[in-house]
Amino acid sequence: MKADIGLIGLAVMGENLVMNMESKGFTVAVYNRTTSKVTNFVEGRAKGKNIIGTYSLEELAANLKKPRRVMMMVKAGQAVDDFIEKLLAVLEPGDIIIDGGNSHFPDTIRRTAYVESKGLLYIGCGVSGGEEGALNGPSLMPGGSPAAWPHVKDVFQAICAKVEDGSPCCDWVGENGAGHFVKMVHNGIEYGDMQLICEAYQLMRDGLGMSADEMHDVFTAWNKTELDSYLIEITRDILAYKDTDGEPIVNKILDTAGQKGTGKWTGIAALDEGVPLTLIGEAVFARCLSAMKGERVEAAKVFPKGDTTISDVDKKAFIEDIRKALYASKIISYAQGYTLMRAAAKTYGWNLNYGGIALMWRGGCIIRSVFLGKIKDAYTNNPNLENLLLDPYFADAIKGLVPAWRNVVAEAVRHGIPMPAFSSALAYFDGYTTEKLPANLLQAQRDYFGAHTYERLDSPRGEFFHTNWTGHGGDTAASTYTA
Ligand code: 2AM
Repeated sequence: MKADIGLIGLAVMGENLVMNMESKGFTVAVYNRTTSKVTNFVEGRAKGKNIIGTYSLEELAANLKKPRRVMMMVKAGQAVDDFIEKLLAVLEPGDIIIDGGNSHFPDTIRRTAYVESKGLLYIGCGVSGGEEGALNGPSLMPGGSPAAWPHVKDVFQAICAKVEDGSPCCDWVGENGAGHFVKMVHNGIEYGDMQLICEAYQLMRDGLGMSADEMHDVFTAWNKTELDSYLIEITRDILAYKDTDGEPIVNKILDTAGQKGTGKWTGIAALDEGVPLTLIGEAVFARCLSAMKGERVEAAKVFPKGDTTISDVDKKAFIEDIRKALYASKIISYAQGYTLMRAAAKTYGWNLNYGGIALMWRGGCIIRSVFLGKIKDAYTNNPNLENLLLDPYFADAIKGLVPAWRNVVAEAVRHGIPMPAFSSALAYFDGYTTEKLPANLLQAQRDYFGAHTYERLDSPRGEFFHTNWTGHGGDTAASTYTA
């Protein structure tokens, strides 16, 4: 019997995806560079299942139904290019190569064009949900050759996570690198969500002097509100987890964060697109700052903070304010992330379905939450929504949250508790909602020292002026001689 799909790369994610596919009724042929892993797998977990072990790419190709579908779950980078080259030698036009790894989207754009130039089809698919998601239902974000989608839809929508009403957390994202781009933004948003939770935690720990157990109770309650999400849920459980001596284990963990680079990629993409993705940017930098532990220890001695207790507030009311500040900042983060996707869609010619993306993230992945259902609704109501903040539901929500949000940021600033995500989100909100920013002065400065010209309030847009500010600069504007 020939297999429905082939999978290369039997590390944990790959193995779990194979088990997931098989459990949904598909026969899977597998291959791995180190072929002993094929033997271990077919004689171990895969024993007695509709899983075919193969020991060369020729054998893999020979065991697949046509058009062949081959999914790679290998290390991002050169390994993917190497496998594409080897697969092109054993596959034929019309076959489909899928990369389910964490590839950087420009690589996927390049690979899609390359594989299509050989007459085959290509998919770069974001896979989120970790090992457990891979086994029981991940969020899948496929993009690439549109003609490939009808051939993989059955498998992908069978194995992915489902929301309560049964909708699959997988749909076609868009051309070439769109799937991996959306997965990258997902990871950036994950950085932001985690940082926001950590700031709430620090406010309660250092500002209100709360214990891990007390905070566990707070997160338990929060998970029953608009914040209901996987990350709040695991935070609740982490805070309750005790070491062998009965101490909360979280109190013993070194405060230096690691990162693998997808948050950085998101920040770079935002800078490339000129999109203010401030919250995710701050979340990435907060991890960098945390990693400077040695320097921070020294600096803390030079600038002792003293008591950071926020004592002049009603504790219960302030905790509710923190919740509201977190929720408001989270809305900002998603508004910014969606703005980035809209900008990239324009740059790269992707026709993104924003509601569909919210649905893909609604279940299965790390940022899964009830909140994403509301975002889905916002884009269903208005697929061209320019900014999530302008959706009536979220505009209304933010209006109710602003006083608490300002209060929390103000108290944190007064007491020296760092809140980069909470406060940058508020600064973005205040900037976005300010009709008149000080960029008139900025334009004057640019024109003063560089003759960069400016537009005027009393003239139509697109008409540029230059002032001879010093009387000896001449009247030549920069644009006239750089043109
Ligand atoms: P391996 O078992 O032979 O190391 C996750 O690391 C997966 O990617 C594994 O299946 C691993 O194969 C594969 N992988 C990593 N680097 C690779 C490379 N350069 N070429 C082929 N496979 C690679």
